[in-house]
Amino acid sequence: MADKIHVTASEDYDVIIGSGILKDTGSIVRDVLPKATKILIVSDTNVAPLYMDKVKTSIEEAGISAFEFVFEAGERSKKIETVAGMWDLMAKEGFTRTDAVAALGGGVAGDMGGFAAATFLRGIKVIQIPTSLLAMVDSSIGGKTGIDLPVAKNQVGAFHQPAAVIEDTDCLKTLSPDLFTEGMGEVIKYAFIMDLPLYDLLKKIADEGKAEELSADTDNLTSVIKACVADKAYVIANDEFDTGLRQILNFGHTVGHVIEARSDFSLAHGVCVAKGMGIVTDAAVKAGTCDIDEASKMKDLIERYGLPSSDDISAEDAAEGAMNDKKKRGDTLSLIVVNEIGKASIVKMTSEEYLAFLKKGLAR
Ligand SMILES: NC(=O)c1ccc[n+]([C@@H]2O[C@H](COP(=O)([O-])OP(=O)(O)OC[C@H]3O[C@@H](n4cnc5c(N)ncnc54)[C@H](O)[C@@H]3O)[C@@H](O)[C@H]2O)c1
Ligand SMILES: [Zn+2]
Repeated sequence: MADKIHVTASEDYDVIIGSGILKDTGSIVRDVLPKATKILIVSDTNVAPLYMDKVKTSIEEAGISAFEFVFEAGERSKKIETVAGMWDLMAKEGFTRTDAVAALGGGVAGDMGGFAAATFLRGIKVIQIPTSLLAMVDSSIGGKTGIDLPVAKNQVGAFHQPAAVIEDTDCLKTLSPDLFTEGMGEVIKYAFIMDLPLYDLLKKIADEGKAEELSADTDNLTSVIKACVADKAYVIANDEFDTGLRQILNFGHTVGHVIEARSDFSLAHGVCVAKGMGIVTDAAVKAGTCDIDEASKMKDLIERYGLPSSDDISAEDAAEGAMNDKKKRGDTLSLIVVNEIGKASIVKMTSEEYLAFLKKGLAR
């Protein structure tokens, strides 16, 4: 049985979530793209050997021709040359405006496959088939697509909503424990910024001693993923183009991005977001806006899912990096603070105020 969560955006679509649903890809594509005759399946060298055959067979059984484009796994492939390879293959195979791309993999496949679709023939449809936890709860939904430049990540891209998102929770059984834990950083973020019932569920799972085995616990895992997808869908429905509410998704990210970049990306994104959430929360306690018990509950949950909730970066280093961040608007920065689990606030700060705030949350 699959569940559907509807996303209302410039073009509406469903996120279909279930165990074993990769084999239904063809019929789902047939339903949402009745005119498609060709699909380019974009995947990476880790995911393709695991799931390409199943997806390809399903698409072909629906009477659609399927073509494969497999790139070297990893963020370093997220560049224009890789996308150009997709454009070339589609042009060579005679893809038309009614054909489509299916992005099968983590956020890298999703962002690049989505961008290739957004740009080929000025825009063809994309089906997102996320296989990492991060991609299922975050990157596959909401229509942000793009590539990295040598100087910074995600600098070129387009908003391009998918025609459907297909999330087979069984795929998470092959994801490494580290990548699963990393994805939990984003899951916990939704609980903190907007979803008290999700916090209660995650706490209950941990209290029952089941946090470590969540990736194999289909029932709990499905409930957790559905909650996150519904949260992201709500945010997208209210702020598709990232001019207001969508900023709350940046909780933990302003500090987290600096820690991530300073580690030369050796530290995982979700790990850095967890640290960022902990640091901002410590600062909010010292600033007197967040109750210490509430902060302890938050930091506890982060740690019970195997993530860190602090870092030894200095306030100056953290603040300096953030002022160069693209999220900056003019001279002020919008910082996301959670003073009460389930509710995020957007706080505008000057660089001086931000530094003073961070000094409260960091030892140096
Ligand atoms: N578009 C958005 O809104 C958005 C949001 C957040 C992040 N992102 C982007 O997403 C990317 C990070 O996503 P990610 O962590 O999924 O990275 P990723 O795509 O590189 O996947 C991480 C690793 O997991 C492997 N993998 C994925 N699914 C697997 C599975 N089921 N079994 C075994 N291995 C599997 C991949 O091959 C890869 O090695 C970044 O480029 C980031 O910028 C985009
Ligand atoms: Zn993130």
